[in-house]
Amino acid sequence: MKEMAPGKREINYLRISITDRCNLRCIYCMNEEGINFLAHDEVLSYEEILHLVRVSVQGGIRKVRLTGGEPLVRKGFIPFLEKLSGIHELDEITLTTNGVLLEEYAEAIRNCGICRLNISLDSLKAERFHGITRRDCFDRTLAGIHAAERAGFDPIKINVVAMRGINDDELVDFARLTMEKPYHIRFIEFMPMGDSNGWEQKRFIPTEEIHQRIKVLGPLNPLPNHRLDGPASRYKIEGATGEIGFIGPLSHHFCDRCNRLRLTADGQLRGCLFSDSEIDVKTPMREGRPDSFLLELIRQAIRSKPLDHGSLEAKPKKCVRPMSAIGG
Ligand code: 5AD
Ligand code: SF4
Repeated sequence: MKEMAPGKREINYLRISITDRCNLRCIYCMNEEGINFLAHDEVLSYEEILHLVRVSVQGGIRKVRLTGGEPLVRKGFIPFLEKLSGIHELDEITLTTNGVLLEEYAEAIRNCGICRLNISLDSLKAERFHGITRRDCFDRTLAGIHAAERAGFDPIKINVVAMRGINDDELVDFARLTMEKPYHIRFIEFMPMGDSNGWEQKRFIPTEEIHQRIKVLGPLNPLPNHRLDGPASRYKIEGATGEIGFIGPLSHHFCDRCNRLRLTADGQLRGCLFSDSEIDVKTPMREGRPDSFLLELIRQAIRSKPLDHGSLEAKPKKCVRPMSAIGG
């Protein structure tokens, strides 16, 4: 039986962080030194993740997104993906990556039947990319995006975190890419996450402002939202090949449409990015509790999804875990 979250939301989407490690150090996510990474045995094994996915499809999960940290840095990723794609109850498996290792893996990922990819890219300038990610990986990231195109991913969604004074002079350039390329460029509001992400009000740009700024390229025509689309509002610039999306977790409440549950790299289920309540599924699984028990925990996580994250309060709530541990 399907479990409904408060507000009659059908929860069919599970985001899984398979590692909290990363080959970049984005300023909005981690310190230069990284964060206090999880110890090896705290992280769910691939077998444990597969076990939980098999249980969660019994609770109505139909779509899985793999995130990190950076999912491609975890050893054995491709064999894991092959097994995951063998779970036939899943309608869709997708991946969020920073693209650095995609040149190497795009083809193999595509061969596992994965069609859609989200790639993070916050600047089109090598030096600035270095400033934001603290790593010299601009060329490899671009090569990764091109490898994804060659491998036939469709769509390729490019996530851009908009930050005033850091990359806001490039928002129009990103939007312009959709005129020629089939990319879906998605502008994400800078969110306060963890202790090390340097969020400041003055860096925050609401999606309305981004919308206004990119209108110089032509009228933005709204596109219909699909059931599995999630929180982006989608547009197309007149005459463009690709699409523009806006994701505004702070300025817009889309909680009423939120269909997702998150599994952290250390085996905690979370109903909401902005609520720090978690349900531990790792411990009971390691104690050998039966699947029926684990399924009940998943249902409990769905039932306890908050109705609303209250982010329009004067001071936005800060999620205490860094994004890399939750998986975006
Ligand atoms: N604000 C907005 N987006 C963020 N991401 C990571 N941290 C933040 C933040 N503080 C994004 C990344 C990536 C996705 C997984 O989450 O850019 O696209
Ligand atoms: Fe890595 Fe993503 Fe965090 Fe950047 S935002 S450091 S790519 S996990």
